Amino acid sequence: MATATVSPGGLTRREFLYYIWGASIALVTIEMTGLLVWFMLPRFREGEFGGAFRLPIDDLPEVNAPPFNFPDGRFWLVNVDNEVMVGCERMWNADEEESTIKGAAAIYKVCTHLGCIYAWVDANNRYECPCHGSKYRLDGRRIEDPAPRDLDRFKLAALDENDTVIAESEISSDGTYDTLTIPPNAAFLLIDTGDKKQGTGQPLLDNFHQGCP
Ligand code: FES
Repeated sequence: MATATVSPGGLTRREFLYYIWGASIALVTIEMTGLLVWFMLPRFREGEFGGAFRLPIDDLPEVNAPPFNFPDGRFWLVNVDNEVMVGCERMWNADEEESTIKGAAAIYKVCTHLGCIYAWVDANNRYECPCHGSKYRLDGRRIEDPAPRDLDRFKLAALDENDTVIAESEISSDGTYDTLTIPPNAAFLLIDTGDKKQGTGQPLLDNFHQGCP
């Protein structure tokens, strides 16, 4: 008759294997749970690129003024209105551009061609990329290629004094973030650099009213 082998600790071989098996399952479960928690934790903190930036409303530029440069967040903050354009200043309209473009936007500082960092050039009232010459209007619309599309935008929200969201950017029919009309009681702006939408591939803006730019 077969007899169970008993270890010095008083466990049978079968019991010992059960314990090992149970411990392995527990270990795998703990590892999986740890991985899941790590995965669900926010990767970026507020105030770091990839996270959210909360700015006082005073940082928003005047309508059609040069963009506010925010290097830590890698974005430009703009406030545009193509209906109050004066002469050839910054928000030139194209002949085919019928609709109103009005409000604030947070524009990613990376060129949509091959990823160079472009600059705002005050003398020419536009963004210019030093790598291959792409140009963009104040609101990020493409003026000159080889850039394949307009500049990308981050999600923008307006907060009141209690940090309650009172308005936030909506996604336009062509899939990018629309400019946001800022309510009069806004006290802060929240730019989420973890939430970016690609600029659209609308036609080059090369047929301007009034001979601009
Ligand atoms: S990377 Fe900007 S034009 Fe090529």
